[in-house]
Amino acid sequence: MNARSCQVVILAAGEGTRMNSSLSKVMHEVAGLPMLGHVLTAAKAVGANRTAVISAPGADDLAGLVAAAAGETFFQDRRLGTAHAVLAARSAFNPPADDVLVLFGDTPLITVDTLARMRKALADGAVVVVLGFSASDPTGYGRLLTDDNGALQAIREQKDATESERRIRLCNGGVMGFRGGGLLSILDRIDNDNAKGEYYLTDAVRIANEDGLLTVVVEAGEDEVRGVNIRADLAAVERIWQDRRRQMAMAQGATLVAPETVHFAHDTIIGRDVVIEPNVVFGPGVVVDDGARINAFCQIAGAHLHSGAQIGPFARLRPGTAIGENAKIGNFCEIKNADIGTGAKVNHLSYIGDASVGAATNIGAGTITCNYDGRAKHRTEIGAGSFVGSNSALVAPVRIGDEAYIASGSVITEDVEDRALAVARGRQVNKAGWMERFRSRQRD
Ligand code: UD1
Ligand code: MG
Repeated sequence: MNARSCQVVILAAGEGTRMNSSLSKVMHEVAGLPMLGHVLTAAKAVGANRTAVISAPGADDLAGLVAAAAGETFFQDRRLGTAHAVLAARSAFNPPADDVLVLFGDTPLITVDTLARMRKALADGAVVVVLGFSASDPTGYGRLLTDDNGALQAIREQKDATESERRIRLCNGGVMGFRGGGLLSILDRIDNDNAKGEYYLTDAVRIANEDGLLTVVVEAGEDEVRGVNIRADLAAVERIWQDRRRQMAMAQGATLVAPETVHFAHDTIIGRDVVIEPNVVFGPGVVVDDGARINAFCQIAGAHLHSGAQIGPFARLRPGTAIGENAKIGNFCEIKNADIGTGAKVNHLSYIGDASVGAATNIGAGTITCNYDGRAKHRTEIGAGSFVGSNSALVAPVRIGDEAYIASGSVITEDVEDRALAVARGRQVNKAGWMERFRSRQRD
């Protein structure tokens, strides 16, 4: 536990015009979670005791997410620069936290490890800490100006930089950390006497140096500071996020046959010795236990695969689904809000929704639970060790007992007791010699 208190300020008052969207920019999703959600998660993970989100007046779509993270929202009335934005949360700086970190809501790839290193720099005596990175193309970024000993002196924004300053590759990634105690006295001295006429948060570095206070750079890779301004940036950030997550799954003991084709959600949990074949998409809320196998072309959301379960190819698991140990879901099956028991099989072309299927029960090809009557959903309960013949329709609400047997092609509308056979279809009639009589009738 870090004994120092920490406050995180997340800037999210940008207009996001270039997203061409009715959604606030920071509400656009990466791995199924709004960008702001990723930043809030990182803030919590680095130990923030308080979180302030600076948003533009009228950006109401952020409120729920911020409240769920126990954060406070502050509004920046006019967009006068990053220092002005931080000062919108002025009332939250009293009493000051030991560490204050300023993050951007549109820069969701920042890692907890990097933020922790920035907090460490503050704990070691820095008054201002800047996240630096070596830019492949520094155009547009603030350049980090250092003295002959490599000590940070100031940050020069692109528009204010001289030709030689513009050649500097070490840039400001945007995240900054401050000793909470001196923060307001520094911020209140920042003016807008610069090329953009904005209050630059980055001027804090020059002011701290003038006061003889220690300012330091913590470096990270360029990917981490990648910001989103247009939808193509969003796709680029998604790609980086997915690649990181795939590497993590493999490092933790899962086999990804073609990792570049597997798409995780922000909260996917994958155990050891899980095998994931190509082209698998995870929606939110999936847990895959050790030793489960996901064959090619599956889409899974809100589902728990217990150990040894196997699904696919071409299976769709929808929310509320649990696939029991060693159970099998085969091709072209859709399972929704259903518990599939240990060792049960639903192998071909079935829809099982709002249902429970007992251990070791076999559901034949083409079985459908008719869970919807046009108004409400109803449950189908099937016991253990039962057999449902192919092409059966189970009209819910209905209950089928243990070790029961449903003849193929049945339409089951009434409960079936344990160990009974249910046949609910027209009886087959064979008429011997029928073809001759038929032909002679045709000749008449
Ligand atoms: C900023 C940094 C620059 C750094 C770059 C990294 C300053 C002055 N410059 O520049 O050194 O290299 O980020 O990407 O800080 N915002 C508000 N209110 C405002 C202004 C900005 O909430 O009044 C938010 C924006 O929505 C954005 C973030 O602050 O999330 C950064 O603002 P932006 O205008 O993108 O700053 P840059 O010019 O990119
Ligand atoms: Mg920017």
